Amino acid sequence: MIKTLAKQIGQYKWASILTPVVTGLEVVMEVLIPYVTAMLIDRGITAGDMPSVYRYGLIMLGMALLSLGFGIAAGQLASYASSGFAANLRNAMYRNIQRFSFGDIDKFSTSGLVTRMTTDVTNLQNAYQQILRITVRAPLRMVFSVVMCFVIDAKLSLIFIVALVVLSAVVFTIIRKVAGVFTQVFKQYDELNASVRENVVGIRVVKAFVREDFEKEKFGRAAYGLYRLYVKAESLMALNHPVMNLVTYGCIIALSWWGAHYVVAGEVTTGELTSLFTYVMSILMSLMMLTMIFVMLTMSAASGKRVAEIIDEEPDIVNPERAISELADGSIRFEGVSFAYKEGSGDYALSDVTLDIHSGETIGIIGGTGSGKSSVVSLVSRLYDTSRGTVSVGGHDVRDYDLTTLRENVAVVLQKNTLFSGTVLDNLRWGNPEATLEECRAACKLACADEFISEMPDGYETRIEQGGTNVSGGQKQRLCIARALLKKPRVLVLDDSTSACDTATDARIQRAFREEIPDTTKLIIAQRISSVKNCDRIVVMDSGRVCGFDTHENLLKSNAIYKEIVALQSDEGGDFDHSGRKEVKA
Ligand SMILES: Nc1ncnc2c1ncn2[C@@H]1O[C@H](COP(=O)(O)OP(=O)(O)O)[C@@H](O)[C@H]1O
Ligand SMILES: [Mg+2]
Repeated sequence: MIKTLAKQIGQYKWASILTPVVTGLEVVMEVLIPYVTAMLIDRGITAGDMPSVYRYGLIMLGMALLSLGFGIAAGQLASYASSGFAANLRNAMYRNIQRFSFGDIDKFSTSGLVTRMTTDVTNLQNAYQQILRITVRAPLRMVFSVVMCFVIDAKLSLIFIVALVVLSAVVFTIIRKVAGVFTQVFKQYDELNASVRENVVGIRVVKAFVREDFEKEKFGRAAYGLYRLYVKAESLMALNHPVMNLVTYGCIIALSWWGAHYVVAGEVTTGELTSLFTYVMSILMSLMMLTMIFVMLTMSAASGKRVAEIIDEEPDIVNPERAISELADGSIRFEGVSFAYKEGSGDYALSDVTLDIHSGETIGIIGGTGSGKSSVVSLVSRLYDTSRGTVSVGGHDVRDYDLTTLRENVAVVLQKNTLFSGTVLDNLRWGNPEATLEECRAACKLACADEFISEMPDGYETRIEQGGTNVSGGQKQRLCIARALLKKPRVLVLDDSTSACDTATDARIQRAFREEIPDTTKLIIAQRISSVKNCDRIVVMDSGRVCGFDTHENLLKSNAIYKEIVALQSDEGGDFDHSGRKEVKA
């Protein structure tokens, strides 16, 4: 983990090295000042020697200014180094996330990724800045101060060495306890973030189902849990100060008591005693800072691990060596395919699927929710790899293709599709950045999107709001289909992509496909019989298995499940909209 993170310091290495060095110089100045003060008092004030007072006064002023200068420089260097470090971390994470397969994203969850890229990196940035400054400063100041104390008077110094040992023991016990609580704090943060994400993203569903109270309560629990942990941690931390004060004042009293005796006996000067007081404070302050570092390190260790996990994650789907970079045709073959989302869980989403689809065929896929329809098509563009068996496209195993080639040629309109903020045209060109306006128009005509786009205030230049909130569900689906068509794919997969369009539009889109892109293999997942019955053949899915693969007419004769679906839908008028149910599932 340390190695992964350290690599991201990158071009900020020099700032990271210079910060402690400059901080060291600052500390040297700080530590020497009380020593000069002692001389000023003893040789100047006590001796009544004004030129000495001026001389030492000027030296002190000079040192103070230098210390200030070094302090400012160190502060700036530290923030430069730490913000740079954070930027590098975020970039490295982002770059790796772009390589993630669907499986990797499932593993970390979207909200988990967001927390890691924001909160966790900020933690690391803060910790890094503090560590650069304090890690050197505190021990250095402590050691210097202790040395200076012994230089002044060894016997008196023994007083607070004893105090120091006692104090360290107490403070570190407290801190260890606190560290444990902080680890829990981060877990709780994840929960809070997940709750925020789910509800802000799904706010429409929450409102539609009048679940606000329930969700408020759920969020309240997460927020309250966080509050309790913080209170616990902070109450423990709060013990630090009184303990510190007790020891500090104890030291000062002891020092005054013994010190007075020594001064009277002439063993220590007044000036030296004064500087001893300053050093005692300085040592105890340093100890305080050291405990802070300890807290910081424990807090950031958790974050560091979470960040390093993302940077180090090896995507489980990678480009093969000697990849095939051309797809001959749109034929698809499934041979004994079984597939589980979690490798080795035995929880198969697909079992023993065998299909042979010719190039240019239009295939309907129908089956109940959770029967494995989406899983089947996600294997074609290798969003996931099979657990057993092979999937081939264009005569070759999908694992032999260059991923880009494969995904350019297999266009998938996902069940949960997304539009991005930008104009209609921007969104269409996601499919193909070089597409001309004419090509975009043609694709939209095919997808029956041209008519409503033309009616929009700025036509193809109309802005789509973030998440596509200013277009209806059916319009969004048609835009997504057009976007996929612009890739000129060999295989086009529509995963329930016309569910929000009326039956007539749906039929028109299919007719256009048949006439305009006859060579493209079309896989059409649908809930409505009307959407698939004109397909060349229809796959009937049930509990992850193919239980029928034939034409509408033949299935009607031979397939019990298919017959049941048909009967059910004609009872309800043959057309029911699942969009409501689908969103709940999503
Ligand atoms: N990303 C995923 N991680 C784990 N399990 C999943 C995931 N997606 C789907 N599943 C499970 O796989 C099975 C098949 O799902 P899916 O192919 O989406 O069905 P359909 O598209 O027919 O509704 C279901 O039991 C579902 O819960
Ligand atoms: Mg599905």
